[in-house]
Amino acid sequence: MTEQQRLNAIAAPLLAWYDEHKRTLPWRGTRDPYRVWVSEIMLQQTRVAAVLPYYQRWMDELPTVEALAAVDEERLMKLWQGLGYYSRARNLQKAAKIIAAAGAFPESYEALLGLPGVGEYTAGAVASIAFDQPVPAVDGNVLRVAARVAELREDIMDAKARRRIRGLMDGAVPPDRPGAYNQALMDLGATVCLPNG
Ligand code: ADE
Repeated sequence: MTEQQRLNAIAAPLLAWYDEHKRTLPWRGTRDPYRVWVSEIMLQQTRVAAVLPYYQRWMDELPTVEALAAVDEERLMKLWQGLGYYSRARNLQKAAKIIAAAGAFPESYEALLGLPGVGEYTAGAVASIAFDQPVPAVDGNVLRVAARVAELREDIMDAKARRRIRGLMDGAVPPDRPGAYNQALMDLGATVCLPNG
């Protein structure tokens, strides 16, 4: 089997595992792109357990992209206080103003990449989870899981190896359930397929 075949072969069993064992998380009950996007930005440098109370409070106070676009800076910073990397909150509001002015949430991976604070990982996560686009969302955990599954020998810290794995991931996302597939890899990497485990 090729690396690509080994990676592609886990999609079906991985999705079955996810259906049984997925973590119950507040941003998973919805496909509202606003909620998915805010959760992914909060999760960029912060663990799930730390994000939970912030996410809840944020959504109670700022339930829509319009509410975020209009909130004053002091309140915004209060809602973020303790999460760190405050540029994430400022970029969220900058992007919210752009989205509110446009009147619609961008749906494609490329359009999402154009938003302040949204990189390849976050664009992939939002495009797949909220809009069913067959694109991967490759962070450090997912790189590790993919490298193990495909039995790659390279060091995943190496930039060339990362590019290659991303390429393999492009071809591995099942088009019928891209958001579930990406989140299944995240859950596997967070709970089962651990570093040096
Ligand atoms: N880490 C980053 N995004 C996540 C998600 N959608 N679910 C669980 N963990 C994540």
